[in-house]
This record gives sequence, C-alpha cells and structure tokens, in this order.
Amino acid sequence: VDKDGTRVFDLRMQSGEKEFKAGRATPTWGFNGDHLGPTLRAKRGEKVRVRIRNGLDEASTVHWHGMHLPAKMDGGPHQMIRPGGSWSPHWTVDQPAATLWYHPHPHGATEKHVQRGLAGLFLLDDKRSARLALPKKYGVDDLPVIVQDVRFDGAKFDHGHKMMRNVGFLGDRTMVNGTLAPYQEVGDELIRLRLLNASTARTYDFGFPDDRAFSLVGTDGGALERPARMQRIQLSPGERAEIVVRMRPGERTVLRSFPQDNYGGAWQQRFSGGDDAFDVLQLRAAERLRPSPALPSELGELEVPDGAGASRARFFDLKQSGINGRAMRMDRIDEVVTRGATETWTVRNDNGMPHNFHVHDVQFRVLEVNGEAPPPELRGPKDTVFLPNGTTMKLALRFEGPADPKTPYMYHCHLLSHEDGGMMGQFVVV
Ligand code: C2O
Ligand code: CU
Ligand code: CU
Repeated sequence: VDKDGTRVFDLRMQSGEKEFKAGRATPTWGFNGDHLGPTLRAKRGEKVRVRIRNGLDEASTVHWHGMHLPAKMDGGPHQMIRPGGSWSPHWTVDQPAATLWYHPHPHGATEKHVQRGLAGLFLLDDKRSARLALPKKYGVDDLPVIVQDVRFDGAKFDHGHKMMRNVGFLGDRTMVNGTLAPYQEVGDELIRLRLLNASTARTYDFGFPDDRAFSLVGTDGGALERPARMQRIQLSPGERAEIVVRMRPGERTVLRSFPQDNYGGAWQQRFSGGDDAFDVLQLRAAERLRPSPALPSELGELEVPDGAGASRARFFDLKQSGINGRAMRMDRIDEVVTRGATETWTVRNDNGMPHNFHVHDVQFRVLEVNGEAPPPELRGPKDTVFLPNGTTMKLALRFEGPADPKTPYMYHCHLLSHEDGGMMGQFVVV
C-alpha cells in the first residue's frame, strides 16, 4: 500500500521453464515466476494499481476478467504492452467480494498466451465476506483451484491438432494450479474450493465420486443469495464457482469432472470433450478435523439488475465465424450502450457446437434459459455463461460507466480459439 492508500501490485510477464514431470523441463510463461501468476487480493472501496512489465518477446495484454473498471484499464486488445514495455492500470474496486482472474487478451493470440501459463486469480473481499461464516483461511480451508487441461509432446506442451475438435484444443489430462496429479491435505470439516476453469476450450462437470452434495455459495461475480445444495457444477472456460464441501475424518476423496449429457449432441460429446472424465484434485482429510461453523442460510442480496425498467433489448447470435454474422474487427464498434441504463441481451447458440458468452466490465443476471427460470448455478452474479447447442439465454445487464466513447469493451466466446478466430465484438459506454 503506497502513501495515498493505493494497493500496488507488481506483475512481470516472463518466459521460463517448469518441470511438470521429473527431469523434463517444459518451456512456460508466467507472471513473477515460471508459470501462472500470484493471487492478487483487494477490498471493495480500495484503490488498486498494477505495475505490469512485459518481459516476453511478444506483445501481450493483461485483462481483469470479471472486474468493473474503466474501459482504458480493462486490458483488452486495445491496451497492448510491447515487449520490454510496461503498463500501470489503476481503478477503484467497486463490486462485491468475488473470485475474479486475470489473463492476456491480445487479439488473435489469447489461446497461446493463456495456454503457456499466463493466468492468475484476483480475489475481492468486502464487509459482508469478512462477516459471513464461510471458510476463509486461504490455502487452508479456502483453496484456489485453477483447472487447466494439458497435453505433452515429450517435454513440450502439445498444442494439438484441431481436426475433429471444433471447440479448440483439448488436453488429455488436467492440472490444478499448474500441478499434475495434485492432492491437498485438509484439516477442517468444511473446505471451500474456488474453482476457476482456466482451460482454453474444455468444459468440466465437477462433483465427487460418491455423489455427495456440496453447497454452491458463489458464482463468477460473488455470493448467491443463499447456498444451493448440488451434486454437480458445470463450468465452461472462464467461469468460476465457489463450493463448500464437507470432509469426513481420515477420508480421501477426489474432485472429479464427469461426462456431460448436455454438451450439444452425441457427436460433440464424443469428439469435442463432453464424454471425458478426469480426476482433478485429491483431497486428503486429517484423522481429526477442526470443527467448522455451520454455513449461513442467507448470504446476502444480489447487486445484479433484475431487468426491470430495461430500456433496450439486444440480440446476439453465436456462430464460430462471428457474432451476429460479423467477425471481430478492432476498428469497428458493434454496440453503443448508455451509461446507467439497464438492458436485456438475448444470446442464442444454434451453431451445432458448444459456445459460451462473456461480457467485460459487468456482472449480469440470467433471467431465462430457453424460456425458463435459471437453475441455481445461474442465479448468482455472472460474467460468463455456457450455451450448449440449442440454448437461448436472456440476460439483464447494467453498465455503470464511466463513459468513454472511444475505448471499447469486449463481449465474446471464451473458448479461446473461437475468440481468437473472431467470435468477439466490441461495445462502448457513452
Ligand atoms: Cu476472460 Cu475477454 O476475457
Ligand atoms: Cu473478461
Ligand atoms: Cu465458441
């Protein structure tokens, strides 16, 4: 924290090497290290500044996924940092406690930059999160779980051939926080997992082998109104979920990703990853567990708009070739929204393959999924939603600004090869 009270972070993008497998050094990229990046953390109301240096030999950006901030600070494709260059975005945190993340966003190369290891968590806290009886000892009973799929070609990452895989790269194994075959020892009855799907294309359906119920307490942009009991939580690339799991003394269990039955058809399930299963993270409970307080029955009020008084409805048709029939262009503004206005956005995928939809700057509410009320996992604040083939979703969004008619924010499919291929559009707030 500097003298005017700003919380300052330093991030250096650098190339390195990491031994994922003993004796084999894999070339990697990371922030302040060889692979991935540090967890940044700030409180609501705090001013933050991130001093970024690009030590790579390629231009890149750093985007704050899920963060409400001015468009100039967003780190999208218009805020490129040249090799050897630096950039110091700053803003005031003004949103509820949440599990956000950061990653590069250079137009056409995001998949490559994320896959090599440029990603990290950005956690936000607020008065409510400080007060609520949820597990909150970071690394003890409150665990970051960054899930990525990976494939190796000898010592190198294998970026794969895309034949038969129209979602993009799919690995044949997963890692958590950059570790293969990970396990975590835990000593508390209740364990909170902050799940981030930081994979480039793969969607997971997380649960446990004994089908135990867990409590979903948060989605992309923070807490649900109340915990939701469930046995599976599906996350597409970019999405987050906070779940609380009850452990039994001495047990070993595993966070697993199960085959999915709503992945957009049998062909997709078989060839584009929907049928795959992975053991993601083993949890090893101590013989004696510290008692955890019971979960609160209420977590608080949502701050996302409910669609009342919406002044404008927009429609987005998702196709791999582009959104609303247009591939992304850096010099074209696709939508102009009014500061402070509530809008409804209807997003449709009938493109024959899975897509998702992410909007910068805002947390939105899902009003409808195929004309019906959303399931619990879509009832919290969201910035990214999964749309298997045949899905239409209606969202309520409010853009608080500040106005900047010249600098766009992005909306796009977060399957990164689709995004890189032009499945992205730009909006400005005026
Ligand atoms: Cu996580 Cu536009 O990105
Ligand atoms: Cu984003
Ligand atoms: Cu897509």
